[in-house]
Amino acid sequence: MRRLRRTPGIRRMLGETHLSPADLVQPLFVRHGGGPSDEIASMPGQHHHGIDGLVEKAGAVHAAGVPAVILFGLPARKDEAASEAWDPEGIVQLAVRAIKAALPDLIVITDVCLCQYTSHGHCGVLRDGVVDNDVTLELLADTAVSHAAAGADMVAPSDMMDGRVGAIRTSLDNEGLTDTAILAYSAKFASAFYGPFRDAAHSTPSAGDRKGYQMDPGNGNEAVREALLDIDEGADVVMVKPALPYLDVLRRLRTETLVPLAAYQVSGEYAMLEAAAARGLVDRQAAALETLTAIRRAGADLVISYYAAEAAGWLQ
Ligand code: PBG
Repeated sequence: MRRLRRTPGIRRMLGETHLSPADLVQPLFVRHGGGPSDEIASMPGQHHHGIDGLVEKAGAVHAAGVPAVILFGLPARKDEAASEAWDPEGIVQLAVRAIKAALPDLIVITDVCLCQYTSHGHCGVLRDGVVDNDVTLELLADTAVSHAAAGADMVAPSDMMDGRVGAIRTSLDNEGLTDTAILAYSAKFASAFYGPFRDAAHSTPSAGDRKGYQMDPGNGNEAVREALLDIDEGADVVMVKPALPYLDVLRRLRTETLVPLAAYQVSGEYAMLEAAAARGLVDRQAAALETLTAIRRAGADLVISYYAAEAAGWLQ
């Protein structure tokens, strides 16, 4: 076997898995107000951007060779109905218009969820302390339509309500937004690895947890069922999230579906690597690239990662 590992050229020529900037998506956080971008304490190296800072950062991401960003908004107000989520003048809608005006070729994906916008931090509307599925669907569809109308290329529902992909597709089509694609967070697990993101997005539920809508980490068959349902409802791309602890799920979706597959290397995966690298326990760049390659090998066509722009630089 070592004959084919002898030189860098042979190894590169025969490598089975290729990681390229074109496979990566950079998550970005946008807030109201101007001024310099501020670093997120739980996610070293990641920032909350005002709209000007966001457009500048998005330009740098694009210049590094990363084709897409996914946007997360921090609203000015939170309420029971998550009203800023579906407000045409909400923070994400404003951000999409600003990015598209400055960088028309950058692919803009928006996270569609209510948790950053509800006063209680759950991903939908509460009735008697439980998230009401079908009332939430209407607000999610309104949110997706407002993002698409602002110019988003893809909307990415991450709420895990039943039937949301179908509801969003129907609403987009009814509004004439037939070209907007849906990237569904299909197998989204109730994971401890979202902790740093919830600090960053101020979206920790004030009571209870998300186990009534996000998936049990032990369930692989159910992940396949979720993906097949989403495809049936009109998902253009399906996602597994988190990534590294769920590589087997990615592989199963790769063999059991034919749609493009995305994986989300989430905040806790990033924070864990950053913490280990900061203590000198692992080589930061090598470890980050190894995880991204592993996620590709498992079957992901697209990897959403906080390392995206930096990794693109390493890969040049
Ligand atoms: C919104 C959402 C979350 C993430 C992406 N979209 C948080 C959650 O479900 O609690 C997590 C992303 C990350 O951890 O990097 N529902």
